Amino acid sequence: MKRTGRLCLAVAGGLFLAALPASGLPAVEFSQAIPGAAATPPLGWNSWNTFRCGINESLIEHTADAMVSSGMRDAGYRYVVVDDCWVASQRTSTGELQADPVRFPSGMRALGDYLHARGLLFGIYSSPSEATCAQTYGTYPGRTGSRGHEQIDASTFADWGVDYLKYDWCAPGAAVGEQRQAFNAMRDALRSTGRPIVYSINANSGIVGAVPGSSGSWRWTSSMSRATNDVVPAWRLGRGPYDYQGIADIIDSAALLTTQFGQGFWLDPDMLEVGVDGEPLNYPGLSTAESRTQLSMWAMMAAPLIAGNDLSTMSAETGRLLTNRGMLAIDQDPAGRTGEPLPGTEGSVWTRYLADGSVAIAFYNADVSDRVIDLDPSRLGQFGCIENVWAGTKSDLSGHMRANVAAHDTQLFRLTADCQLSSS
Ligand code: GAL
Repeated sequence: MKRTGRLCLAVAGGLFLAALPASGLPAVEFSQAIPGAAATPPLGWNSWNTFRCGINESLIEHTADAMVSSGMRDAGYRYVVVDDCWVASQRTSTGELQADPVRFPSGMRALGDYLHARGLLFGIYSSPSEATCAQTYGTYPGRTGSRGHEQIDASTFADWGVDYLKYDWCAPGAAVGEQRQAFNAMRDALRSTGRPIVYSINANSGIVGAVPGSSGSWRWTSSMSRATNDVVPAWRLGRGPYDYQGIADIIDSAALLTTQFGQGFWLDPDMLEVGVDGEPLNYPGLSTAESRTQLSMWAMMAAPLIAGNDLSTMSAETGRLLTNRGMLAIDQDPAGRTGEPLPGTEGSVWTRYLADGSVAIAFYNADVSDRVIDLDPSRLGQFGCIENVWAGTKSDLSGHMRANVAAHDTQLFRLTADCQLSSS
């Protein structure tokens, strides 16, 4: 293996970290809008998909405890993100945001301390407008967004020990120039605190091509950027560009985008619906096959894995899916390249090249019935060993790969040179 050195250059609006091989040619390019914050896609949990505005201090603390006791923290899930509806409807007399006193009576710094004491990281939500999303749509009182208050809010977040900010535009219509100004203002404010805070933005609230935020890259603005409208626990809804999306809808739209992302700037196809009870919202929820698909395909996209289920009632099966080591190793691969559909396979085969020279392969069956998917792996290089990630098996690879993939399911493989040599 070639020795590499690290070079750090200031580039318009961002830091550019390049790992240089001994030859001096860049091997990978790492962009980090907030230096030190998200070298690999963040892993964590967020309150929105299950609890919406029904959040409070004890719910978040119990969730944190469950993250530890379920083994999720030790598998790598560390961010606990408190989404919309934590904030009081008024700022303090000196202009700071403050927690809703009924929901979070001990305040957000105490919550951050609680999380940090358990080896977890603290995430919070705000919006680059006068109101948060729930405030905009009238489901939560107040108008306490961060627009025009970036510096004071970033300082407050840093003071509370915040490690992750979800910053949500929350409207399909906007001029991109206005969005850039607003998102960059918070990026600069976060940077100026000196605290590495993952900066997760949603400029889209709609699908690619249909909304202004999807035109152009946010690589120098944020650590990750939403590429879709809101996910719900369903397979495919096929609705309009501003409507909710099932996970198959998201795979279709995100497939067009993966090459714009990676290496310190992560594609955010929205959060996980694995184990989320769809019933309160009249969605079906994901089957086990569909859950495997969401995790496999998000790992192929090098996407953040932000669980959205109720961890206190999580089934053993959901816990096993979320913490599958082989899937997580693909998602977190240090080279940070994104996967993409293999030409000529109509999206049923995805490939992702990994740091150790191996290749991850997903056989994705979007059909309503079982389907045989096959591949000549010599198209991808010389490999002697195949790991079946979900089955947890490894065997010598010879000739064609061929698998019967159940409806809506995904089989995930990792090909390495030699089963004796591979440690994964
Ligand atoms: C939406 C966002 C959701 C959630 C919600 C909160 O715009 O996509 O993930 O954050 O706002 O109101």
